[in-house]
Amino acid sequence: MAEVGDSKTALEELRAEVGQCRRCALSRSRTNIVFGSGNPDALLMFVGEAPGYHEDQQGQPFVGQAGKLLEKLLGRIGLTRGDVYIANVLKCRPPGNRDPLLEEIDECRVYLERQIAIIEPLVICTLGNFSTKLLSGKPDGITRVHGVPQPLPGSGGRITLFPVLHPAAALYTAANLRILEEDFDHLPQLLDGKADSPPPGAAMDESQQPPPAPEAPSEPEQLDLF
Ligand code: URA
Repeated sequence: MAEVGDSKTALEELRAEVGQCRRCALSRSRTNIVFGSGNPDALLMFVGEAPGYHEDQQGQPFVGQAGKLLEKLLGRIGLTRGDVYIANVLKCRPPGNRDPLLEEIDECRVYLERQIAIIEPLVICTLGNFSTKLLSGKPDGITRVHGVPQPLPGSGGRITLFPVLHPAAALYTAANLRILEEDFDHLPQLLDGKADSPPPGAAMDESQQPPPAPEAPSEPEQLDLF
């Protein structure tokens, strides 16, 4: 367990490193890196997809419409942005808000892995498909796996992954908003020391999971966090 203050310093050092990153072409079109923000010792971490226009302009994650909804959802469970840590799979904006490319994710994932290793949250709530597939190491889509806690691969069972829909998917679709609200309502219980005991019928634990299919082309590598 890191000393209080250590994680803040470690994140600042990592932020400076990401600021120099030239690993992919997004470094040439970005206005600012969007490293992440919030409590360096957060028990709950959110991982979105990639910065959009406003995030790129301000250098902060989730400051647009989806971010406003995220704040509302946090308020629902008695939390503010300052209580949690918010990051993205990509630290730079894809032009025109296109989907992240596999090679961009591959180049950038090391930064997210290091953020997770520094913060050591109890629960990581992935927002949408890209962060869910990357961190679960499985190709299952968010509509199938949302609301089902599972151990984060590579964390030795110390971190629970909890996928939910991306807030942007709920901005104009009431049914998605309802699903997102219901999933958020499970977060306090997961944070309340019950993070390692998924409800009956939920995802299998690591030891019960079948080995990943070797031929799966989009299967990301297992994370090596600690
Ligand atoms: N959508 C994301 O996935 N991340 C942001 O930071 C903003 C919008």
